[in-house]
Amino acid sequence: MSADTLRVLQSITPPQIFAELQKGVLGQNTALRFVAVAVYKHTTGKVPGNILLIGNSGTGKTTIMNNIQRMYHDVPEYRPFRAMTIINANLLVDAERLEFQPERLLAAVEQRARAMVGEKPSPAALRETMERATICIDEIDKMSSIVAGKPNPIGVVLQQGLLTLMEGEVVTYKTYAWEDGAEKAVTLNIDTRHMMFICGGAFEGLYDQVYLRVINPASGEKLKSQAVQMADGQVRIETRFALADFLKPEDLFTYGMVPQFMARFDNVVLLRDLDVAVLKEILLRSLDSPFVRSRNYFAVMDIELEIEDVAASMIAEAAEHNIRTGARALRTVFSKIINRLEFDPWQHDELAARPGGGHRLTITREMARRAIAGNGG
Ligand SMILES: Nc1ncnc2c1ncn2[C@@H]1O[C@H](COP(=O)(O)OP(=O)(O)OP(=O)(O)O)[C@@H](O)[C@H]1O
Ligand SMILES: [Mg+2]
Repeated sequence: MSADTLRVLQSITPPQIFAELQKGVLGQNTALRFVAVAVYKHTTGKVPGNILLIGNSGTGKTTIMNNIQRMYHDVPEYRPFRAMTIINANLLVDAERLEFQPERLLAAVEQRARAMVGEKPSPAALRETMERATICIDEIDKMSSIVAGKPNPIGVVLQQGLLTLMEGEVVTYKTYAWEDGAEKAVTLNIDTRHMMFICGGAFEGLYDQVYLRVINPASGEKLKSQAVQMADGQVRIETRFALADFLKPEDLFTYGMVPQFMARFDNVVLLRDLDVAVLKEILLRSLDSPFVRSRNYFAVMDIELEIEDVAASMIAEAAEHNIRTGARALRTVFSKIINRLEFDPWQHDELAARPGGGHRLTITREMARRAIAGNGG
C-alpha cells in the first residue's frame, strides 16, 4: 500500500479499533472498549492511560494482548507502533539479587524497533520508535507482595520498579546505533510518558477474598438480590455475587499490590467468565479457535470442514464444565474429535464429495457425543 492511501490515525475511531479487536476476542466487550480508547489515544499522540486487566484463567487476558499486536501488524497505518512487547512480569526481576531489570523489557522493545527502522538506525530514530511502544506485562498477580500468606520481596521490587517506569520517567538505555556513517555505542534517553502499558493477571483468590469481606456482617455491605422469572412463570429471588460490584482499590492492596503501583492505572478492568454461548462463538468464529485453525488446515487439501450446530453447542457445554481453564478447554475437547481426522481424512465415512469439486467433512453431533463421552470418537 502506498503512503498516500493510508488513513490519518485520527480517522481510525475507537469503534473501528474495537471491531478489529473483536475478530480475535469475544465476549469481553467492556474490556475491549477500554482498550480501543487507549489505543486511539496512544496512536494519536495522547497519553493513553494504563490499563490493568483482571480475569479468571482462560477468559482472554493474554488473548487481548496478542490481538493488539496482531492489529498493529494487520492495520498498515499502525506500522509506527509495531514496537510492542508482551512479557511475563517475573522476567523483569533478578530473583537472586532482588533487582528490577527493565533492560529485558527495553531490549525486547529495541529488537522490534530495529526491525522497523531499517539496517542503520540513527539514535534518534531508534529512540522515537521505542518511545511509541506498547508494553504488556502479563501474570502481574504472580508478583504480588504476598504469596501464600508470606511476604514476597521480589514482588515489591517489581512493582516499585514498574511504578517508576510507568510514571513517565526518562530511562537511560545503552545500545548501538549509526552516527556519521559508523556504528557507535550510544546511550538513549527514553521518555516512557507516551508508552502504553497494559498489565494483566488472574488474581486467583481475589474473588473469595472480596466475597468473604462482603458477607461479613461488619462490612456494612450487602449482596444484591434480584427477582428472576423462571421458565415455568414463577419468580425467584436470587442473590448473586459479582466481583465487579464490590471490588475496591483496597482489596487489591490487601491482595498484595503496592498502592502507589495501583495508582498508576487509569482503568482497572474486570473480564467476565465465559458462558456457553460465548464459548460457542469463540469456537466457531474467533481467529485463533481450534475449529477455525483446523478448517484452515483442511482447506489446504481442498476439504471444507463444517460443524453441525448441535455439535458446536455440545463442545461449548463440555468446555464450560471445565471452569478452571476457561476457553482453553475448547481445545482439549475439540482435539479429541479432530486428531484422528487431521491425520488421515481420506479414511472416514464423514468425508463427502462436493458437487463443485473437492470434499466436505462434517463434524456431527454423534462425533461430538462420542468424543465427550471419552472413547475418542
Ligand atoms: N474472550 C476470548 N475470546 C476468544 N478466545 C479466547 C477468549 N478467552 C480465551 N480464549 C482462548 O482461550 C485460550 C486461553 O486464553 P488466554 O490465554 O487469553 O487466557 P488468560 O486469560 O490469559 O488466562 P491465564 O490467566 O491462565 O493466563 C486462548 O488460546 C484463546 O484462544
Ligand atoms: Mg494469560
